[in-house]
Amino acid sequence: MNKHNLPLVLMTHTLPGEWIASLTGKCRLVTGPVDATFFAPDVLSHIEEAEGLFTLLTIPIKLDLLERARKLRVISNMAAGVDNIDVAQCTQRGIPVGNTPGVLTEGTADLAMALLLSIARGLPRARQDAMTGEWKTWSPTGWLGADLFGATLGIVGMGKIGKAVARRALGFGMRIVYYDPAPCADTPGTFLPLEELFRHSDFISLHIPLSPQTFHLVNAQLLGLMKPSAYLINTSRGTVVDQPALVRALTAEMLAGAALDVTDPEPLPPDHPLFQLPNCLILPHIGSATYQTRRRMAELACGNLLAGLAGRPLTYCVNPEVYLPRQE
Ligand code: DGY
Repeated sequence: MNKHNLPLVLMTHTLPGEWIASLTGKCRLVTGPVDATFFAPDVLSHIEEAEGLFTLLTIPIKLDLLERARKLRVISNMAAGVDNIDVAQCTQRGIPVGNTPGVLTEGTADLAMALLLSIARGLPRARQDAMTGEWKTWSPTGWLGADLFGATLGIVGMGKIGKAVARRALGFGMRIVYYDPAPCADTPGTFLPLEELFRHSDFISLHIPLSPQTFHLVNAQLLGLMKPSAYLINTSRGTVVDQPALVRALTAEMLAGAALDVTDPEPLPPDHPLFQLPNCLILPHIGSATYQTRRRMAELACGNLLAGLAGRPLTYCVNPEVYLPRQE
């Protein structure tokens, strides 16, 4: 095919060439900067002509953009979550939306455990004290944390990542309880209603996608049920937690601490009250940030994009209804 006849694809961010090698010769790419925080205007200016869109979870793809994107045939999000995209509007327009589930399961579960261990043992404070001269001696009562062995881990959302966290936690000798709105097969652990889970867990780890049903699911009332010795870990989406309520609960020591890989907003402003709290550990949304995982996410997203451009069903499509005969 003549190079100029290749479909035009907008890629909101620059990615390493080897991650997107499968696109070579298959499309014309217009690419934004590496760490774009918004849809770069010089890329967006091509939206009327674009047949494919490759984007990340930080770029909102909403009605205003879709109305301009008359030729768009596929959107490929390099993320498992698609809450940045107005999927219902895409479905109405017959545009399949691809995502990258599965490949980030183990990496994200590793990070949830890293957060759990760090907050349980107060690693940020211990490191700080070791560096700043606060480490005077082996202190019998200093830097005391909580055991994982024998503790109860409450997993909210027993999907792939929830199960991967449960497998790891079992290895640490933890007891697993879980809540999921859908019935779960092959689940290590005991189902508990959400409120019971919050009441009885020593650690609570969130693994639910953001949706209108899960927005601020973890609110003041649920936080108020936690044991004062319990910890909250969030690697899902920031707005699953009512963050002002969390600030109040942490300040009042209604729970022992929180470890958050996701916040509302992202990035969290450096002067945000959560950063002032010694019992809160915050990371910059790095659940999937390993070389292997990010590369696999990019490769999957390229596969979805190419399938969409070729008119084939996407391997991972969040709105497969687009392939059903349209009801007029
Ligand atoms: C996702 O893919 O939804 C993750 O949040 C990225 O780490």
